[in-house]
Amino acid sequence: MSTSPSIETLRDLDRQYHLHPFTNHLDMHQPGTHLIKAGDGCHLIDENDRRLLDGLAGLWCVNVGYNCVAIVKAVEAQMTKLPYYPSFFNTTTEPPIRVAEFLAKKAPARVNRTVFSNSGSEANETALKLIRSYHKLRGQTEKKKILSRTFSYHGVTLATSSMTGLPTVYEPFDLPLPGFIHVPGPHPYGYNSPMDAEAFGRWCLAETARVIREEGPETIAAMFVEPIQGAGGVIPPPPGYLLELRELLRKNDILFVADEVITAFGRVGDWFASTLWNLDPDIITLAKGITSGYLPLGATMVSDEMAETVFKGGYFAHGFTYSGHPTSAAAALANLETIENLGLVERVRDDVGPYFQKKLHAFAEHPAVGEIRGHMLIGAIELLPKGGRQAITPTTSLGIPAAAHIRNEGSIVRGIRNLIAVAPPLIITHAEIDELFASIARGLEKLWD
Ligand SMILES: Cc1ncc(COP(=O)(O)O)c(C=O)c1O
Repeated sequence: MSTSPSIETLRDLDRQYHLHPFTNHLDMHQPGTHLIKAGDGCHLIDENDRRLLDGLAGLWCVNVGYNCVAIVKAVEAQMTKLPYYPSFFNTTTEPPIRVAEFLAKKAPARVNRTVFSNSGSEANETALKLIRSYHKLRGQTEKKKILSRTFSYHGVTLATSSMTGLPTVYEPFDLPLPGFIHVPGPHPYGYNSPMDAEAFGRWCLAETARVIREEGPETIAAMFVEPIQGAGGVIPPPPGYLLELRELLRKNDILFVADEVITAFGRVGDWFASTLWNLDPDIITLAKGITSGYLPLGATMVSDEMAETVFKGGYFAHGFTYSGHPTSAAAALANLETIENLGLVERVRDDVGPYFQKKLHAFAEHPAVGEIRGHMLIGAIELLPKGGRQAITPTTSLGIPAAAHIRNEGSIVRGIRNLIAVAPPLIITHAEIDELFASIARGLEKLWD
């Protein structure tokens, strides 16, 4: 057996051959990449055999932690029996059928059918095509524009980057494409608004209603909404906002898409934010926690009315070679059954979610903290420079250095603009939550050094 190359050799090869996602390569190449070797529950083992607590569950996805034997066994069994066969042209395999059934039983009553893909971006891209097809089949050929919100994240294809409400994601590619319209996301802190969250939410609704009127509701096909905006900075909805938004869209015959790529499968203390907050979506898009990241899988769930309209349209000319990949679906099924059997959703709701929020909110009075946001097992800490809020300029970026200090102190969190985001695996214990926040506290002590 060949011996593994040294860390330095791997770093050199990485510099020479590997383009990373969402990375400034010039910054990274100097020190070299950070190699992660193994996982163990909520911890990772890095190149130096250091144990790091993973406060971001990989990328908001490793809900069951890193050593779920049930998933590994299910994948091995499926790989041995039938590693791959497509679901094209009237065939399929057992695992995607069973995952689709599991999802339908947990999802809101009107949403029962699933189109599979390989990622959150593909799940949203698939939703966009279903929406266009649905309106066309109903004779509403003008309904093509798509609404989404500032600070939203919906993916990286041309269309889903266009929906994403973060200039860092769309500007380098001269996006958004025509027909993608951003309305304000309910983030008063991000807008530097003096309004409280509820009042700001009402202003966002009024702005959204104004944009709908100006554009013409007959031209707007759908709005994509993350119930809690994740990568844009962990922005929970203000009280009343989501249900009013839902009604506004219904009144204007605009489809409501809940992008639950982060919020589904337990993190918010329910299987879906849509069930938790009675959102009655027409479409739910899923990925990440559906397999706890063990294998790639995306899913687009649609309402019965949409599915039946698409059926009547005849041949459905959409799908990826790996839509409903049997091994990814076997991983999903084992993962979903693990979440159910371990009672992880209830555990987040009744135990670790409230404990996590208590520890998170304990930072509210910290001198380097401007705001705390979160819900159950997802949270953000807005950071301040020494001079306070008024010293923040457009180039202030405290999230990345804070995350680096916290990593040095033993935990992984994500730095975004001037905040850190935290979303650990759902199996996290109280002791591990204490460990995570102790690293954050030590890291923040270094922020102003
Ligand atoms: C809410 C949301 N939607 C879509 C995506 C895109 O998913 P993927 O990276 O799997 O394409 C993400 C990824 O972070 C996400 O957070």
